[in-house]
Amino acid sequence: MGGERFATRLDGMRRSDVATILKLAEQPDVLSFAGGLPAPESFLIEDYAELEAAVLRDQGRAVLGYGPSAGVSALRETLAARMEHFGRPTVADEILVTTGGIAALDLVAKAYVDAGDIVLVGAPSYLAALHVLRSYQADIVGVPLDDQGLDPDALDTTLRELRATGRAPKLLYLVPTFQNPTGLTLSETRRRRVLELAREHELRVVEDSAYEDLRFEGEAPPRLCALDPERVIHINTLSKIVAPSLRLGWLAARREIVDALVLCKQGQDQCSTTAGQWVAHRFLSEGVAERQIEAAVPIYRERRDVCLAALAEGMPEGTVWTRPEGGFYTWITLPPAFAALDTEALLPRAVAEQGVAYVAGNAFYAAPDGHAGPRQLRLAYSYLGLDQVALGVRRLAALFRVTLDEAREGGR
Ligand SMILES: Cc1ncc(COP(=O)(O)O)c(C=O)c1O
Repeated sequence: MGGERFATRLDGMRRSDVATILKLAEQPDVLSFAGGLPAPESFLIEDYAELEAAVLRDQGRAVLGYGPSAGVSALRETLAARMEHFGRPTVADEILVTTGGIAALDLVAKAYVDAGDIVLVGAPSYLAALHVLRSYQADIVGVPLDDQGLDPDALDTTLRELRATGRAPKLLYLVPTFQNPTGLTLSETRRRRVLELAREHELRVVEDSAYEDLRFEGEAPPRLCALDPERVIHINTLSKIVAPSLRLGWLAARREIVDALVLCKQGQDQCSTTAGQWVAHRFLSEGVAERQIEAAVPIYRERRDVCLAALAEGMPEGTVWTRPEGGFYTWITLPPAFAALDTEALLPRAVAEQGVAYVAGNAFYAAPDGHAGPRQLRLAYSYLGLDQVALGVRRLAALFRVTLDEAREGGR
């Protein structure tokens, strides 16, 4: 850090993987599976332009001014109705409009986490969430996932171990549906068990539903916030279903919680984009968002199918990957022989030799060891066109096969 007298919180914030990912995706010659970026083809750009013009015309100059910190009332009401539709009876006062999903988590962390407080997360977990929690100097404890997502038995064990040492975690953060990075979805039974444990240990649960609306197949289990509206803070975003550049998300929680978070938001950004909120309100209430979701789902489903087929064709024997029923990601675990090679160390070669980018497994774990991260990686199939997905996975698989062979030969 040179001679600059930065705050100690910066010590825990590793190099920003998010910034690296966005940068990689910008290089036109790289096939990037790195960022969780929506398909640009899915944006309803003409509807967007029309709504933007209509908002300026109908609402006038007010939309270019500041708005209320908790959000524009019309949008809060629309979002409350949306929450109700998905099983959580909600009034507008229980909604806080935020500047995207990650800013919502930032507000929650600001309101709840003192330095050293324990926060439980899945292992692996969404890396920007880890980044936020580190910035508040949380003591992040990972709860292992198995092939069905967060393992309630492991959560039970972790909670009991912590209790035995007199430590009580404050928050549990999880992405129960189409998880980032694994793509896995928690069953209803597991959801109920997680909530039971949360009640037993007086744990506040933060449910992040960023991908929930993008389901390709299968039945949606109930949202955590529908099963326990009192205990759960529900975070959501318009980044994946409208557009990331809107920078709008929301959270739904008990009013007392929303009020505390509004205080925090006053020191974050005062209010989210007023004009954008009006556009979002109309996007949602006039059925445009639903149309976009309907058009986007088949695009993502097809990309997933092509991605998984190419993995099956090319990856070294013994490699396993998840089959998501929605969302943007598949999570790959290479065979044990790969551990010494390390997906993080291999990434520069993947970019330089194959023109392909991914995110290495380690980035998604709070702790540096005790997990399979070195032989894991996340692929986002959401962004690239079908041919590029197939080509990118073929190149990547070839690189993994070659490096594995090299390692075996070197080991002889
Ligand atoms: C799990 C999860 N939550 C939240 C977000 C938030 O996105 P944004 O801040 O762009 O709304 C993302 C984006 O990648 C995500 O994967």
